[in-house]
Amino acid sequence: MRVYLTGGLRVEGEGSLVRQGSFSFPLATLAFAYFICERSRPVPAAELARVFWPDESPPDAAVAIQGITQKLRRTLVRLGLASDLRLSGTDIYELECTSDLWVDVEAAADAIHDAEGELRAGRPAGAFGPSAIAHHIARRPFLPGECGPWVDSQRDRLRGILVRALQCRGEVYLWNREIPLAVEAAKEAIALEPFRETAHQTLIRAHAALGNAAEAKRAFTRCCELLASGLAMSPSSETQRVYRSALGIDHRSAHGRRGRRSAVATDDRRPGADLKTELRRLLRESYDIERELGGGGLSRVFLAVERALGRQVVIKTLAPDSAAMLSAERFAREVRLVANLQQANIVPLLSAAVVGGIPYYTMPFVSGASLRPLLSEDAPVPISRVISILRDVGRALAFAHEHGIVHRDIKPENILISGATAVVTDFGIAKAIERAQSTAVETRMSLTAVNACIGTPAYMAPEQIAADGAIDHRADIYSYGIVAYELLTGRPPFGDPSVQAVFAAHLLERPRDVRCIRTDTPPALSDLVMRCVEKDPTLRPQTIEEVLSVVA
Ligand SMILES: Nc1ncnc2c1ncn2[C@@H]1O[C@H](COP(=O)(O)OP(=O)(O)O)[C@@H](O)[C@H]1O
Ligand SMILES: [Mg+2]
Repeated sequence: MRVYLTGGLRVEGEGSLVRQGSFSFPLATLAFAYFICERSRPVPAAELARVFWPDESPPDAAVAIQGITQKLRRTLVRLGLASDLRLSGTDIYELECTSDLWVDVEAAADAIHDAEGELRAGRPAGAFGPSAIAHHIARRPFLPGECGPWVDSQRDRLRGILVRALQCRGEVYLWNREIPLAVEAAKEAIALEPFRETAHQTLIRAHAALGNAAEAKRAFTRCCELLASGLAMSPSSETQRVYRSALGIDHRSAHGRRGRRSAVATDDRRPGADLKTELRRLLRESYDIERELGGGGLSRVFLAVERALGRQVVIKTLAPDSAAMLSAERFAREVRLVANLQQANIVPLLSAAVVGGIPYYTMPFVSGASLRPLLSEDAPVPISRVISILRDVGRALAFAHEHGIVHRDIKPENILISGATAVVTDFGIAKAIERAQSTAVETRMSLTAVNACIGTPAYMAPEQIAADGAIDHRADIYSYGIVAYELLTGRPPFGDPSVQAVFAAHLLERPRDVRCIRTDTPPALSDLVMRCVEKDPTLRPQTIEEVLSVVA
């Protein structure tokens, strides 16, 4: 018996044919397909419930599942399939097959495995048949009309098989000198999986086989661009080797031609080069980079003029030669989230891109300084000014929290003064950088690089220091409290020069009451600040709105 789960459910028995429409009750198709894929294995009702109702099971899920399985049994009988397929059990179900069962998705997986094996063994002719089978099955939709995480995961799997099948076919066509077909297959594979370097290699070799060096070069350049913009990576040495040998370029002479620069992105990234010079060169057409504003660790900040609009902007980058490289894709994702934060007290994002492997984004230049110089002045900040700054920062946080974004790095340097208004910058960026750090740790990058950007100890919430993973918007409320404390008293509560001591103090020490240090603080404000800096997040104001009701 043959079961097709792609292109519409179909069961072919001896002389019989059953189509998807015959499984007529709700969830019938999904239940049947799931039992087929998991056949001869006990499937508990709870597992079925997760497949049927991934978001939330109905209260009577077990009863509903019994109903579904009973109907399925009756359907199998009605369709004449019951002699081959037997569904048993009440709470734990099992589909047994008495005859040999062929299932298309399994056949596709076997076929692609065989095809790749033949290619590896240097037998492209043997790969022809199996790659055609895998391609034929994998390009059809899995259970059309059905949805849910299980269906999605099966579709993802088939998509992976399809890409591999296209890749194999490309190789087979190349070997058979059917070059235009090889080009087509490789291009289709790249469209599905842009970062698949082996497909790019096939394409480069196909163009070279046609004697078209310009196209081969274009294919290589395109590969470089895709990898740079999506993953901030250069092509592997194997891809570079394929490119060189396809074009008949000798390795050493290619390296010897210093000074003559090729247009491809790999040459554009020289990790050792000074970042400012590098950015200046890479962005020269759009921006005139004037000077560095500061930053450190994984991020650097430059003041520039955007040529097209003749305005000053700030360009912020993640340094290319660090762990951040690995997280460029995540960085881009975070940036997209932050791009939606448009509110008067939030420094907006103007644009974001990756150039020569360096992810960067731009924002308006805020000409007033940050809170830092204000705090370094001898005179205390007037109470009315403190309240107005706290109100602005609170509004920015309220907007971000409402959009599900936690800042994670609220500190005076990230609060800029624009006229009479305070604006907050670096939303969400801390998270992208943190992720870069954890990638760095996972990949055992140098610890100096990791430590250089560990955040700002003086303003970190205890739960952030403990890194217990459960950080929410209340971490921002803590940091906000520390900034407020510093605005009022001139110093953050824990400012010991050693990082360890500051961490320990955040975790264990109760700060002195604000009013003991600055006696003219209104009691409501000082109470608020002291509550914001509670160690236990549940003792802090639970939302920034609560804070705003005091400083508004
Ligand atoms: N949009 C901006 N306009 C003006 N100055 C900025 C802007 N963004 C950042 N800066 C300045 O650049 C400095 C460095 O920024 P950054 O790399 O975020 O490091 P940090 O916030 O840790 O100081 C900040 O202290 C701030 O004074
Ligand atoms: Mg900053």
